[in-house]
Amino acid sequence: MKVLIVGSGGREHAIAWAVKKNPKVDKIYCAPGNAGISEIAECLPIKAMEFDKLAAFAKENAIDLTIVGMDDPLVGGIVDCFEEAGLRVFGPRKNAAILEGSKAFSKELMKKYNIPTAGYETFDDPEKALEFLKTASFPTVLKADGLALGKGVLICQNLEEAVAGVKEIMQDKKFGDAGNRMVIEEFMTGREVSVLSFCDGKTIKPMTSAQDHKRAGDGDTGLNTGGMGTFSPSPFYTEEVDAFCKANIYQRTVDAMAAEGRPFVGIIFFGLMLTPDGPKVLEYNCRFGDPEAQVVIPRMENDLVEVCEACIDGKLADVDLKFADNAAVCVVLASDGYPVSYKKGFPIKGLENFAGSETEFVFHAGTAKNENGETVTNGGRVLGVTALGENLKAARANAYEAVKKVTFENAFCRSDIGKAIDEAEM
Ligand code: AMP
Ligand code: GLY
Repeated sequence: MKVLIVGSGGREHAIAWAVKKNPKVDKIYCAPGNAGISEIAECLPIKAMEFDKLAAFAKENAIDLTIVGMDDPLVGGIVDCFEEAGLRVFGPRKNAAILEGSKAFSKELMKKYNIPTAGYETFDDPEKALEFLKTASFPTVLKADGLALGKGVLICQNLEEAVAGVKEIMQDKKFGDAGNRMVIEEFMTGREVSVLSFCDGKTIKPMTSAQDHKRAGDGDTGLNTGGMGTFSPSPFYTEEVDAFCKANIYQRTVDAMAAEGRPFVGIIFFGLMLTPDGPKVLEYNCRFGDPEAQVVIPRMENDLVEVCEACIDGKLADVDLKFADNAAVCVVLASDGYPVSYKKGFPIKGLENFAGSETEFVFHAGTAKNENGETVTNGGRVLGVTALGENLKAARANAYEAVKKVTFENAFCRSDIGKAIDEAEM
């Protein structure tokens, strides 16, 4: 069997690592991939948004299954393009990926189908948004409607900040067309939890929970990033929370999408906030989280290829989805200056220390091979160092030990990934 993976981050490396474990898979391709992925897959010089080129490659090379890791191609309709070419592909079609692609769409869906989320208003006109803000209570949350690399959310403490935010999103178009519309949302408080789930259009099976750390600095300070580290499971995702989400959020979302004529096949990532009034949806994503995938996939006991195929075939109900009774922590090693500006091209040392390990992994994000064949830094987030352990504390200790085994110039990581593990005990 031949599998093509679309994307180039730690998430796609974790997907490739899991795909490789399937004994039927004899060849993996990844477009465009990175240096780490190139150790297990043949990387192709085709960009994730070049749908026609990717589909032509998949046709010519008789690819049996394509797994799309990234949001941009999914929201842009890569799955429709592959299906039109008669190719098997795992991910939502364009009309379902809108769940992530438009915040206005997802908020309206939640309101219509009574899925718990923050109260909100949608605006196409900045003047109307400014008028509304005069009577809003603060803090308040402004969200660009479209994809904005996870940066289109502004939490505004007062009217002045909100006015500046409307200007940034809708008038200066800091996030481009993503800011043609805007959602203004009630500010919620509570713990955040990420729950990724497999869907086949009708059935949904949630995976184990995880928690991300979005800010660049220790103590949740500094700028928002794509994610500086994760742990799984979340100690705050109790059986009671799980039961509530199963009754009010997960299946209801899948049923709502089907009822709207937008059956969702692929991964729904529920960004949840555990508020004093119960769990509410912060956001939906239409793909694995990154770095959530790096702690969730290594704990999965099922074969990833088989589960993806069951989703495509509408047979997810037959899958007994299982996760190990252990824990995982991922610490992201980033380039100093991320998420603003940083240097690239530094050789990475110590990668060989992870060869063959079943409990410690280095998932590559921004890495490349230089002209001498050395693996060098090539992005802001460079590596996701992940370790398993029998519980969260052990996994965290193992992850921070593992981080010491690999290094590059200008590397930094947060030192408090998983601090919530201690807070859960208080
Ligand atoms: P999103 O891209 O919608 O997940 O938003 C990014 C981050 O902004 C979330 O992970 C939260 O930390 C924060 N956020 C988003 N919406 C709200 C809200 N309504 N109340 C409080 N914080 C929020
Ligand atoms: N780690 C957050 C995301 O993948 O959107």
